[in-house]
Amino acid sequence: MLGVRRAAAALLPLRTGAPAAAMSTLLISQPRYAWLRELGLQEENPDGCRSFSVVFGILVFLTFSLTCFFMQASLEDYEETVKKAKEAWKVWADIPAPKRGEIVRQIGDALRQKIKVLGSLVSLEMGKIFVEGVGEVQEYVDVCDYAVGLSRMIGGPVLPSERPGHALIEQWNPVGLVGIITAFNFPVAVYGWNSAIAMICGNACLWKGAPTTSLTSVAVTKIIAKVLEDNKLPGAICSLVCGGADIGSAMARDERMDLLSFTGSTKVGKQVALMVQERFGRSLLELGGNNAIIVFEDADLNLVIPSALFAAVGTSGQRCTTARRLFLHESIHDEVVAKLAAAYAQVRIGEPWDPDTLYGPLHTREAVKMFLDAVEQAKQQGGSVVCGGKVIDRPGNYVEPTIVTGLPHNAPIVHTETFAPILYVLKFKDEEDVFAWNNEVKQGLSSSIFTKDLGRIFRWLGPKGSDCGIVNVNIPTSGAEIGGAFGGEKHTGGGRESGSDSWKLYMRRST
Ligand code: UN1
Repeated sequence: MLGVRRAAAALLPLRTGAPAAAMSTLLISQPRYAWLRELGLQEENPDGCRSFSVVFGILVFLTFSLTCFFMQASLEDYEETVKKAKEAWKVWADIPAPKRGEIVRQIGDALRQKIKVLGSLVSLEMGKIFVEGVGEVQEYVDVCDYAVGLSRMIGGPVLPSERPGHALIEQWNPVGLVGIITAFNFPVAVYGWNSAIAMICGNACLWKGAPTTSLTSVAVTKIIAKVLEDNKLPGAICSLVCGGADIGSAMARDERMDLLSFTGSTKVGKQVALMVQERFGRSLLELGGNNAIIVFEDADLNLVIPSALFAAVGTSGQRCTTARRLFLHESIHDEVVAKLAAAYAQVRIGEPWDPDTLYGPLHTREAVKMFLDAVEQAKQQGGSVVCGGKVIDRPGNYVEPTIVTGLPHNAPIVHTETFAPILYVLKFKDEEDVFAWNNEVKQGLSSSIFTKDLGRIFRWLGPKGSDCGIVNVNIPTSGAEIGGAFGGEKHTGGGRESGSDSWKLYMRRST
């Protein structure tokens, strides 16, 4: 614990002096949840804390039980943490890149050892199903492997100088301190995509996860802090501040944040972007999506049905890459809707950590309200609910996976991203129209077509095809590959993270 306190001044001091009665009802005190201790979590912090306001680690989506006590950072904690991270950067920047890669390799190995228990915590705290929780830890492991290789590969060109006896060199240097703000829906992977790359580039990181997934942020940071400290490096190279909008705004306005990577809604992302731009800072934005799958008449429906189901219903519709629009050629519309509705009926709904469950609850009560509002608007705008549309009568934030047909492609609700499992099924006749309809929404994150026509596939990939950052063929819209550059255009924010040459965003070029 002491090590972690050194690592990040504001790292969640757990509340001291919590009333004994409250302590005994904490999940972490129950034998069934004893595994939380394997992640270094405890009822409360043994080394004390200052007078911050208490927020709770809760199963927000199911029972409202407290997992354990923890505290939010104050702005003073934030100040202290930024100072420590800046100091730690001085040490980290001097370490040769391949040696930084070796540290990231050890972080990947440490995550491998905790993959199941960390995946379980994600499932418990966020509400996604267990395999998805483990899956996103696996993505962090994979991007660590990627970053280890990259740490030996980043080079700058030596260009022909026009001046005799001169050298013209481009060298890449770290930006310094990278602020990373992540969302509730991917509480591990998105931090991993950013931090593994940022670290090998020679940056220190300061992370603020979503307030509702703070225990996951703490558990991940403890794993990293141990690796750093075992290597006699300052834990503050990877600092954590748990907090809400006040800390997020402080980061956005802070000139010491040399890059701010933000994942979240377009609405909040716009505020962040303006605050960062106001100080001529650098931001990397991963915002909303309104992703479409287009199915042509020649498509293999054996691929289409499971793909559409996975993309629309996976993570209960709470991915930025979730399919929200399904364009079906008019000749296959009714057949696909019938098959898809039958597949929806097979989805096993249950507690997210139960290995049989394919579909869990929404993360918050507000999300349930947003779901119901959207269904109502869809009906008012002329849509028919083919399946779903209601809240499920069981404890927790469960809603029925929902299919709506009959809306025009440009109905206002179809152009709205509702972070819930609602799929709008729309009819089309020809390619030119449907490519234009794919592109007519504000967001530009992910997109898919299903077809066997090679000419069409290349038109889809080309200048008049999809305008999204992720352009798929015969696979669904969700499920990112860490080796590619992940991100989207327009109101999705334009950022790219994870693989390919995304590393350039975490560095500055010295010519
Ligand atoms: C995926 O589709 O597997 O917030 C990744 C999100 C994205 C990550 C999606 N940043 O859903």
